[in-house]
Order: sequence, then structure tokens, then C-alpha cells
Amino acid sequence: MTSTPPAHRSVGTARTRVEGRDKVTGAARYAAEIPFTGLAHGWLVLSTITRGRIREIHTAPVLDMPGVLTVLHHGNAPRLHTDYVGLLGVPPDPAACVFQHDRVPFAGWPVALVVAGTPEQAREAAEALTVTYEEEPHDTALTADHPDAYVPEGGMPAETSKGDLEAELAASAVVVDEEYTTPEEQHSMMEPHAATARWDEGRLEVVDSNQGAGWVQGELATLFSLDPAAVRVRSEHIGGGFGSKGLRAHQVGAVMAATALDRPVRVVLSRRQLFSLAGYRSPTIQRVRLGAGADGRLRALEHRSLNQTSQVYEFLEPSAGVARVMYDAPAHRTAHRLVRLDVPSPTWMRAPGEASGSFAIEVALDELAERTGTDPIELRLRSEPDAGPVSGLPFSSRNLAACFREGARRFGWQDRDPRPGLRREGRWLLGTGTAAASFGAGAAPSTAQITAEPDGSFTVRIAAADIGTGARTALTLIAADALDTTPDHVRVRIGDSDFGPAMIAGGSMGTRSWAWAITAAAQDLRERLVPGTAVPPDGITVRSDTTAALGALSRKERHSFGAQFAEVAVDTATGEIRVRRMLGIFAAGRIVNPLTARSQLLGGMTWGISMALHEEAVRDHHTGAHYAPDLAGYHVATHADVPHIEADWVDDHDPDDPVGIKGIGEIGIVGAAAALTNAVWHATGTRHRDLPLRPDRILTAAHSTKGEPTKKA
Ligand code: MOS
Repeated sequence: MTSTPPAHRSVGTARTRVEGRDKVTGAARYAAEIPFTGLAHGWLVLSTITRGRIREIHTAPVLDMPGVLTVLHHGNAPRLHTDYVGLLGVPPDPAACVFQHDRVPFAGWPVALVVAGTPEQAREAAEALTVTYEEEPHDTALTADHPDAYVPEGGMPAETSKGDLEAELAASAVVVDEEYTTPEEQHSMMEPHAATARWDEGRLEVVDSNQGAGWVQGELATLFSLDPAAVRVRSEHIGGGFGSKGLRAHQVGAVMAATALDRPVRVVLSRRQLFSLAGYRSPTIQRVRLGAGADGRLRALEHRSLNQTSQVYEFLEPSAGVARVMYDAPAHRTAHRLVRLDVPSPTWMRAPGEASGSFAIEVALDELAERTGTDPIELRLRSEPDAGPVSGLPFSSRNLAACFREGARRFGWQDRDPRPGLRREGRWLLGTGTAAASFGAGAAPSTAQITAEPDGSFTVRIAAADIGTGARTALTLIAADALDTTPDHVRVRIGDSDFGPAMIAGGSMGTRSWAWAITAAAQDLRERLVPGTAVPPDGITVRSDTTAALGALSRKERHSFGAQFAEVAVDTATGEIRVRRMLGIFAAGRIVNPLTARSQLLGGMTWGISMALHEEAVRDHHTGAHYAPDLAGYHVATHADVPHIEADWVDDHDPDDPVGIKGIGEIGIVGAAAALTNAVWHATGTRHRDLPLRPDRILTAAHSTKGEPTKKA
């Protein structure tokens, strides 16, 4: 290893994406765009009933249609090995393990795959396929008092408890006891799921759009009982994932069809199909009880959350988990409950738990600030914990206060009159609000290879995924620094399961986990490179594995933090809310590439606007299916909804990470909807506890309370 200090410092400098030119010129091809000779196309047929049994699939007329090659369904599909726990510690969602039985557990369940020579032929035949069912009554409605609510087992603890909650509440000068709800939300990534499967000399190759090529490879190998070495998954460019792009019905259907037909088969999901096949954020019903002294200091905190899951898969949206990290109180209780309904399986969606949970707890804290006459920032800082409120573990670093201080200064918080409903500008009532954010900072074992090439450049190979985040570019900067060279001497190849095991792009852990592996490999490689000695023609390759290093990490509370600020204008005559400005200040570890990091944070905050004002997947409980499952019926924030947003950060450094990274993928959305909702209260004097803040809700509230101060439920 060289003894001189490194001359090159790329981490921390703003760089455009290394694949940016390819993306804007269309040279970067996405999963559904890559050509294959002899390609056939599959189209999934989804159930039109919500619960019951398939009686018959009338394939004969469809098999006579132009171009149709086969129709796969439970009567002819191969049996899969589905009884396993995958790489991420969870079993496969049965909705992805297609055609294994005749039961229909929800509307939009995959019942058949029609394969034809062209996508149009496949789709036309799929739409012509008649399926008859034995229909059963269904239940798709999540209610606070649902009789089937149960305590989930496995995964994170369902409950935590310390102190005497009722006694502390009884002794509190002020109590907030309210219910908060969030609706079903859809990932709505730009690129729908797509996969092409083919057999190539005894090896299964799948070109896919996913958040982890090695992850999907492992799942497919297990499902189809294949030697993992005989399965290769590639996923070069991905148009967004947000937690949804793991194992899904499209890959499994494509592999089944490619095997049956012995030719390449592509399955693309339509936007509508995503609503039942790609997971979603469960609706939540949350109850928060806060008790405080007259000074606003918390004496009691209880956060309970109920979410739905499907009949075939258990997924917990851990919304009460945020309270386990953020605020301490002598009496502290969190609890999760689930209800199994006849609905699709929910899944991870950007900041699972924190996004919805922070809405409830951060609005409740604003209510407590209002009722105790305490400034909302001061209120939060008075209950800053010295250690994990539940775990008792030390924080690796906790710079929430610094975020609030910097945010308050830049937002002009000190000029705010705390009284609601005072600022008016024509027909608009104006208000400002704030909320805190946190998200876990973790790392998971990964392997990386680096080759020193004879021309003095380096090739990094790692099964990382860049789902649009800029991860590939961040890894290029990290590798350049670790190799003491410039980024133009580094080529980072990702998205290929043949590169070995690596963390997925998930949990805000991707870049940190991969960076660790790359840093370790680079260190090893530099020790092997002898100055003044030529590199052999096939280069020098080293390989790293961070399993041992991560296993040696001490247990700590490891999180990013942030402070969200928002200003809104509310027209109580029309119910319209316009966001005027937002500011987010984050303490999220060392920032690798300020350009793409800012985009990540802005994207999360933009989603916060969308979550606060627009997003709501509505189910018709009579049919059990969605109303208008598409981007016309499901509203997401668009340019006109998004004002000037600023995201920035304070100095923060994970002391135990070789690069100092914490991860920034998810924290931008956390607390954003609460800050906006608190701003709407400040504008109007009316408290809203149900998302989204639809115009009808604003109107109804304005007319029922006439701007009176918040009612007590
Ligand atoms: Mo994220 S919800 O871990 O992709």
C-alpha cells in the first residue's frame, strides 16, 4: 500500500451520472427494450373475482387465435418449490409463485399467462380468455375495530413497552389521544416490471428490472429447483423500484414459458397490473396517545398501528417503529397489529413504516405543541433521548437538533407567529409546519471484485443495482478514492448476479453496503500492486467479502435524521392546497455525490407532497377491486404541484463506516407529509388526521368547524 496520503478525492464532489448520456440519448436500454432472437411475449391474465376458486379456463378458443403459442395456468404449470425463506429473510409472496393451485385470494390474482409471437397477439388473446369461477364472499375493508386483528409474529417485535402508561397519562397536564389514517399507496415507478427469460446452453438467463440481480437469481433458482450457478439474472438500468422490484409474477411466468417453449419469453406488467401484482403500502390506522407536563416534556408515549395484509402473505408495515427511535418518555409503548383481508399482498415501499408512522407521531406532536403552547421544534428537542428509547443502546450519531437549528434558520422559523389562521393573502390562508425524520442506517454483507487493468484503469464488478438513484456514479467516486485514482480511470459494472452476492438496492443500505465491499477490495488490490511493475495482460483481480467486518460491528442505534419544513396556502372555499415551499435538512452520513444525493432527497420530499395531497388507491369494497387503477385515477404529484424545494444536510459521519456513509434513499419522504399537514393546521386552524388532504376533506372540515380551534375527539 502506498504510504503517501491519497492525492485524489472524488467523494463529496458533484458529478453527473456516468450513464447519464446513455440515458438521455436512449442508448441505455431497459429490460423490456433489449432485443432477443425468436422472442415470444407473455401477457398475464388476472382474476376478475376477489375470492373463490377457478372452475375452468377455456383455453381452446384462445389457442386458435393468431400467434398464440401456449396458455399456462394451474392445470399445466410446473410445480414450484415455494417453502423457503429467501435471502432477505422472508418467504416468497405466493402472488409471484404463479399457477400453483386453483384458489383466488384477491382481485387481480394471476390465473394464466398467454404466450404469443407478438405482444399485441398475446394481449388480445389474454383479453379473450374466458375463465369461470366459483365465487365466495370477500372482505377487503380495513377498520379500526376489525375482529380479525392479530399480533404478528416473527420479524421485528410486535410490541414494546416500558413504564406505567396509564399512570403517566393520568398524571399528565396535557394529553393528545387521536387516530390517524393513511390510505393504500402505490409505488408508481416510471418503468413497470419487465423480464425476459431464456435458456442458453443449459443456463437460465433472465434480463429483468429489479433491485437486486443476485436476490432475484437466488429466488428463481430455489423456486425452480435449479443450481444457482445455472441461473444468471441481469438488471442493468432500472426506472425506479421503491421496494416493489423483487420477485414478482412476471419473472416466474417468463421462466415457466421460456422452459415450456424453449425460446426466449418476455413478460411485461401493465400499469394496471402493477396495482395487484407489484405490492403497495398498506393503509394504516394509527392511534397515538401522548401525555406531557405543562412544559411539553413527554411523560407518556403510545403509538399503535394496524395494517392489512393478504390471505396468502404476511407483511407488516411497521409504522409504530419510528417511535422506538425518535422520542423517549418514562412510559413508552408501541404496538403493531395486522388484519388478513382478501386483498393483494402489501410490501416495502420507500421508508416502510417510517413514512406512514411519522405522519401520525409527528402530527400528534404538533397537536401537543399546540395544546401546551410550546414551539414545535422546542417540544421535540425537550424529549431528545440520550440512548435508544426502547433498546437503551447508544446512537452512532444523532444530529437531529442540528438539522432543526439549521432548518429553522434557513426557513425563517423564528419569525413565525404560532397562532393558526392569521396569515391571509387574498383567498389563501397561509401556514408553516415542521416535522422530524429518521431512517435506519444499516449495511449488509456484500462481495466485490476489482481488476487492475494493464492500461492503468480499474474495473469494478459488483451485483449492485442503480434503480435511478445514482448508485453507479457514487460507487465510481468511492472506488476512485479507494484506488487513489480519478473516476475516469474506473469502470463500475453492476446489475449482474454473476458478480457474486451483494446487498440489494433497498433499506437505504445499497450504496453503503457496496461501498464497503469496494473499499475493502481496493485496499487489498493496492497492497498487491507493486509500483513500477507492469500489470499482466489479464490484469490483477481481487475479491472482497464484508461478511466478517459487518459481523464485528457493535450494536448501536444507527439512523439518519432530518427536519422537514413546509409552507402551504389553503383556499377554504375550494379546498385547494398549494405548497409554497419546502426545506429539508438532513443528517444522513457522509454525502458521496451531492448532485445525486440532493436529487434523492428532493425526490423523497416530492413524494411527501404527493402522499400528503394526492395519493390514495381506492378499493370498491363491493367488488373488492380498485377503482381506476392507473395514473389517471391514482394521483401523484406532478410538476405543477411541486414548488421550490430545497434539500441540504449538516455534517454527519457514521463513525463505524469506512467511508462514513449512512444512506439517503428513503429519509427524504419521512416526516414530509406531517410537516405539510401541520402547515395546513397552521394556515386554517383545522387539524387533519387522515391522508390525503383532499379538497373535499378541507372543505368539509372548514364548514364543520368554521375555523374553530382543533376539536378534541
Ligand atoms: Mo426500499 S422500500 O427498501 O426499496
